[in-house]
Amino acid sequence: MTLWSGRFDTAPDPEAFAFGVSFGFDRALFEDDVTGSLAWAEALGAAGVLSADDTRAIVDGLQAILAEGRRDPSWVSGPDEDVHSFVERKLVERIGDAGRRLHTGRSRNEQVSLDLRLYVRRRIPVLQAEVAALVAACVDRAERADAAVMPSYTHLRRAQPVLVAHYFLSHAAALRRDHARLAAAAAEADALTLGSGAIAGTSYAIDTARLASRLGFSRVVANSIDASSDRDFVAAFLYAASLAMVHLSRLAEDLIIFTGEEYGFFDLADASATGSSMMPQKKNPDPLELVRGKTGRAIGRLTGWLTTMKALPSGYNKDLQEDKEAVFDAEATLGASLGASRAVVSRLSLDADRSGRAASGLLLATDVADYLVARGMPFRRAHEVVGALVRRLLAEGRDFSALTLAEWREASELFGDDVPQVATALAAVEARRTPQSTSPQAVRMALDECRKWLASQEAGRSVAAG
Ligand code: ARG
Repeated sequence: MTLWSGRFDTAPDPEAFAFGVSFGFDRALFEDDVTGSLAWAEALGAAGVLSADDTRAIVDGLQAILAEGRRDPSWVSGPDEDVHSFVERKLVERIGDAGRRLHTGRSRNEQVSLDLRLYVRRRIPVLQAEVAALVAACVDRAERADAAVMPSYTHLRRAQPVLVAHYFLSHAAALRRDHARLAAAAAEADALTLGSGAIAGTSYAIDTARLASRLGFSRVVANSIDASSDRDFVAAFLYAASLAMVHLSRLAEDLIIFTGEEYGFFDLADASATGSSMMPQKKNPDPLELVRGKTGRAIGRLTGWLTTMKALPSGYNKDLQEDKEAVFDAEATLGASLGASRAVVSRLSLDADRSGRAASGLLLATDVADYLVARGMPFRRAHEVVGALVRRLLAEGRDFSALTLAEWREASELFGDDVPQVATALAAVEARRTPQSTSPQAVRMALDECRKWLASQEAGRSVAAG
């Protein structure tokens, strides 16, 4: 028995019916479906469509169904086509005919969009808390690194020395944009679809503004035709999840490189690594590789969904049912990847000797050029002078620290006996001036700002929970 069997004189083909069944996955919307139906029943009661008795019976019945489903999630199952059919069947089983009045003036088209909007708005804060926890792990590593330096890279070639703290905060900065992007996806989902009917609106005098605020929405959709197939919030969520995964994959790739034998700036805790079945010496960064790999899955969900939406005719089409598995899979992938990344980052140890050694030498060339600029030489000229010096040092297998004062002066008369102090990684870092730079003072301020942001997230969560 389906919600639409009255129209047909034969039962559906079992294979075709099974193909369309969504209950196996949309049961994740159980809470949201009941929440929406409770509000809808009250709105029908307020509009005088349902009697006070029927409204009471439906509300009590739905509340009992919600309690039962929460108590035993495995109870939310059966031969039903989808979660909406399941809830309605259980309601009629429980309260009889009054239950058959719940769907008055409503369509599953608006109902399923409502459910997914409620779901996304409920689950995004959970992901945001995971993002914040990873930011906190980066901030922790940054704080512990103190004044340690490491090379920064462009083209994956040594570029300039930076504080290790600055490096960790660079990933925190990207993650904070992901946090904001998830909030934007939640804002996109923030519109009530009920009142749209199947496509043309409903004929009952539903107070949609009141219904919206009852369900925590700040607005009602603008147009019932658009609302029946608008899944922009799904695309926004999948985009936010994909870009967050892209960021996690870049963090993972960095750490795979930096913890490898050739670099060795950081070491993976044994707990974050796996061994080889054949090579006893191996310590493999599997969790990081998996995060990097799963990024393809998240991006696939986004491109898959955009492809489903492309050229879809106006109004509801069953294609839209694909939205749910995309959302659930992207959510699970991002959630698990955030957790794994945090576990790895929070146990990472630093080899400050090794990172410091890699941060000195010829990558101080920009600072040597800046020294000449400070003494009046045009930068282009200074670049040439230092470039020639680098060429010579490379040929001789030496670096700046090996130069005698006479050799410095051979390159330029402007070099004084203070130049060895300038040509160190720490001096290079301390010479930076801008707020986004790696100067110790700027990094301290950035750390403080990050800590404040984390505290405000924490406070926001306890207000929401309390
Ligand atoms: N399972 C369906 C979906 O996910 C629910 C909406 C069904 N509406 C319909 N007109 N068949 O989209």
